[in-house]
Amino acid sequence: MPMSIPPAPANAVHLFVSDAGTHIRWLCDAMEGHGEIEPVPPNPLVLLERAASLRPRTVLIDFLTEHPHQLFSTLELLRREQPQIPVIGLGLSTHPASMLAALRAGVLEFIDMAAPAADVPPTLRALTERRAEQAGTPRDGMTLALVGARGGLGTTTLATHLAVAAQELQQGRTDPAAAQRGTVLLDLGLPERDGLLYLNLQSDFHLVDGVLHLQRLDRTLLQTALAQHAGGAAVLPLPAKLSQIREISLADVQLLLRKLAEFYALRIADLGGCAAVDFVTQVARDADQVWVVCEQGLGAIVSTAALLERLRESGVPQDRLSLIVNRFEPDAVLSARDIAQRLGIGPFHVLPARPQVLLDANSRGELLVESRRSDPYAQAVFGLARSLLPTLPDTASLAQGRGWSTFMTQIAGRWKGQRRDRP
Ligand SMILES: Nc1ncnc2c1ncn2[C@@H]1O[C@H](COP(=O)(O)OP(=O)(O)OP(=O)(O)O)[C@@H](O)[C@H]1O
Ligand SMILES: [Mg+2]
Repeated sequence: MPMSIPPAPANAVHLFVSDAGTHIRWLCDAMEGHGEIEPVPPNPLVLLERAASLRPRTVLIDFLTEHPHQLFSTLELLRREQPQIPVIGLGLSTHPASMLAALRAGVLEFIDMAAPAADVPPTLRALTERRAEQAGTPRDGMTLALVGARGGLGTTTLATHLAVAAQELQQGRTDPAAAQRGTVLLDLGLPERDGLLYLNLQSDFHLVDGVLHLQRLDRTLLQTALAQHAGGAAVLPLPAKLSQIREISLADVQLLLRKLAEFYALRIADLGGCAAVDFVTQVARDADQVWVVCEQGLGAIVSTAALLERLRESGVPQDRLSLIVNRFEPDAVLSARDIAQRLGIGPFHVLPARPQVLLDANSRGELLVESRRSDPYAQAVFGLARSLLPTLPDTASLAQGRGWSTFMTQIAGRWKGQRRDRP
């Protein structure tokens, strides 16, 4: 299994809200090789759309503007829609108004353009690691259920791309134990075994075998029995003879999922197009997060609403639900936010419509996260994968930035100084 550091497209993306070309260039140069800077004009709706599609690690805001207070409403909206994304201010310590505006906006960190540009990557890294520590790392990792209310919504395409992207990110981790506990894809959607097909794999071992051998399952058995993608993600499909599923119960599947948590940090269950609603709701109820795949078409929205009702009735907590608007067309009448509102789901993400490239990749048995990593669909999937691994540490050593607290002290000093200077 190759243990490589993820190359550029898998790097962290940071959105930079600014329309000043010189500031954008300064920040891009400062971050060279340490993550991508995606400039965003100071427009709240554009920012939200970019945040939903790219899942950035941080959002940086340029407070060196003539009207910094106009940024406050943008920030308010961002915090409401994407509260998990840390916000960082950028300005000049020689321009106290920019620091003051950042302070008032409640940013978590401040980047001083008067300081050496080399301070920027460690400052961002330190902030991300602090946040990760605060969030805590669940020992068992996480189970993610991907549900799709009807066939063809793109659940299996997402599940396979996500498993491969997440596995790659996990292998870039510095903690060898974490890097070893990779991703397993539970290919449980219908039509059966599409995940295997999309990953160009074959497998004799399946879900029912997993249940029947539950007591014997250990790392060695799993490594030899489960089909494994070249990047390292393992796959456990439904049996080719679907009637075999009657040999096991829902409770058995539950036990198997718990067992797999000992060996795989991330379990992704593809439940797309699944006819057995009880099965879907049971697995979803046990999952840490449930992503509901939908499209902008009315039919998909109506079916998704019905599925969501079943999920909620069966006890899936509201705060575990997120919406994925697939085949997203930015100019369609219904925006992703409209759909999220209609369905009563808070967090939403979008995956762009890429019919031609996905079809071509699919026919060649390839995944865009491998063959066309810069494609918008691949980028969006990497963004989602990153959001699943919030504790992913960077591989470089942790250096200390100057820290917001230093600037706070400076501002407080100036503030007091100004007051003292008053007649
Ligand atoms: N973002 C996208 N843009 C364009 N085409 C897409 C997108 N996502 C998936 N597709 C295409 O839609 C088709 C159905 O996708 P997929 O098999 O992943 O759906 P599914 O929800 O798993 O369907 P089923 O329930 O039938 O298994 C595939 O041809 C796939 O390439
Ligand atoms: Mg499918």
